[in-house]
Amino acid sequence: MAILRIEERRGLSGDVSVPGDKSISHRAVMFGAIAQGTTRVEGFLPGADCLSTIDCFRKMGVPIRQHGPTSIEVEGNGWEGMKEPEAVLDVGNSGTTIRLMLGILAGRPFHTIVTGDDSIARRPMDRVAKPLRRMGARVEGRAEGSYTPLSIRGGGLKGITYPSPVASAQVKSCLLLAGLQAEGRTRVEEPSLSRDHTERMLTAFGVRVNRDLDGVSVEGGQTLQARDVRVPGDISSAAFLMVAALITPESQITIRNVGLNPTRDGIVDVLREMGGDIQVTPKGEWCGEPVGDLTVTYSRLKGVEIGGKMIPRLIDEIPVLAVAATQAEGQTVIRDAAELKVKETDRIHITAQELRKLGARVEETDDGMVIEGPVQLTGNRCNSHGDHRIGMAAAVAGLVAEGGVTVDQADAIDVSFPGFEALLSEL
Ligand code: S3P
Repeated sequence: MAILRIEERRGLSGDVSVPGDKSISHRAVMFGAIAQGTTRVEGFLPGADCLSTIDCFRKMGVPIRQHGPTSIEVEGNGWEGMKEPEAVLDVGNSGTTIRLMLGILAGRPFHTIVTGDDSIARRPMDRVAKPLRRMGARVEGRAEGSYTPLSIRGGGLKGITYPSPVASAQVKSCLLLAGLQAEGRTRVEEPSLSRDHTERMLTAFGVRVNRDLDGVSVEGGQTLQARDVRVPGDISSAAFLMVAALITPESQITIRNVGLNPTRDGIVDVLREMGGDIQVTPKGEWCGEPVGDLTVTYSRLKGVEIGGKMIPRLIDEIPVLAVAATQAEGQTVIRDAAELKVKETDRIHITAQELRKLGARVEETDDGMVIEGPVQLTGNRCNSHGDHRIGMAAAVAGLVAEGGVTVDQADAIDVSFPGFEALLSEL
C-alpha cells in the first residue's frame, strides 16, 4: 500500500493543468462504444475508474485503441456492435461505470454479470435496478438486486416516467441510456438538477434530448453518431489545488482548461463566498462543455452555510471543502448532503474522522457536518480508506499541518488523479 508524505508548506505557485474530467471520460468511452463510427477522445483521464470502463466495453467486443495515456479511439458499431461478454465485467471502484453501463445493458438482448471491489459491494444499486426492472429489464443480485454481484438480461424495454427520489446523475444517465433503447418516451425527474454531462454529450452525438424545468426525456429508437471529444480538466481534481492555494500562505496558482459546467462548479461559488480569491478566464466550449482557466490566490476565508440545490453542484468536493472550512474564521455548516454516506466511503464519517486526527473541530450530522475554524492543524497519520478524494483531502490538510501529514493507502488517489503527488510538489 503506497504512502504519501506531505510537509507543511508556504508559497505554492505555478501554472498547471489537471487530468481530464472523470465523468466526461467515462461517457466518451461508453457513448463512443454505442455510436456509429470512430470516436476520438483527447484529454482522456487515464485513472483507474475510466480504465475499468474501457476494460468492460472491450470485454463486450468493442475495439478501443489507446494511442498514449490520454488519447484513445473507440470503434463503435451501434447498439448491435456490443456482444455478450464471456467473462464477468469488473468495474473496480467505479460507481459511474456500473450504473451507466447497466442502463446500456438493460436494452441489450444478452446476459451479463457485473461486479466491483469491496466499496462497490456496499453501494446501493437498487436505485438503478428498480426503475430498470420497471422498464422490463431482468436485474438480479444480492439483497433482492440491491448489491453486486449483479446479473442482467436486457431487451424488450418500455419507456417510463421516473421521479427519482435522489438528485443523481448516475441514475438519470442510466435511465436515459436505457430509454434510448426502449419503446416510447422515457422521462426522468429529479429533486434538484444533477450534473448534466449525459444530456450535453448525447446531444453532441446527435441524439434529441428534451429538457424542461422538472426533468429530461428521450424518445426510444435513437442512434448515436460518433464524434471527436476533447475532455476538459476535471474541476473535482482542480478543487484540491484550489483549496491548497487558498489555505497555504503566499500562494498563487493558475489551473488551465478546467471544465466549468454550471452543474459542477458550485465549489468555485462557495469558495468565493468564503472570501476566496478565484479569477475565472472563460475559454469557450469543448463538446458542449464550458472551459476556463482559474487563478487562485491565498485568502483569508470565513465560514459558510450550504445546502439544498448547491449540494449536487459540489457533492464530490465536500471532503476538500471541509479542509478549507478548518482554516476559515467561524462556523461552516453543510446540510442536505446525506448522499455522501453512499459514496466510495461514508464521506461524512470518514472526512470528520480523518480531519479530527489533525486536531480539526468537526461534528458529524445526519446529513452533513459542522466545522469550526480556524484551527492550527497538527501533523498525524491519516488513511484514505481506499477513497481517492479522502486521500487527497488529507494531503491538502497536510500543507497547513504542523509537522505534515502521512497518508496511508494513498494508491487510491490514482482512481481520479494520477500524478497528484508530482503536481503538488511541482507547485
Ligand atoms: C457522477 C455522478 C455523481 C458523482 C460521481 C460521478 C457521474 O454521483 O458523485 O463522482 O459521472 O455521473 P451521483 O450522480 O450518484 O450523485
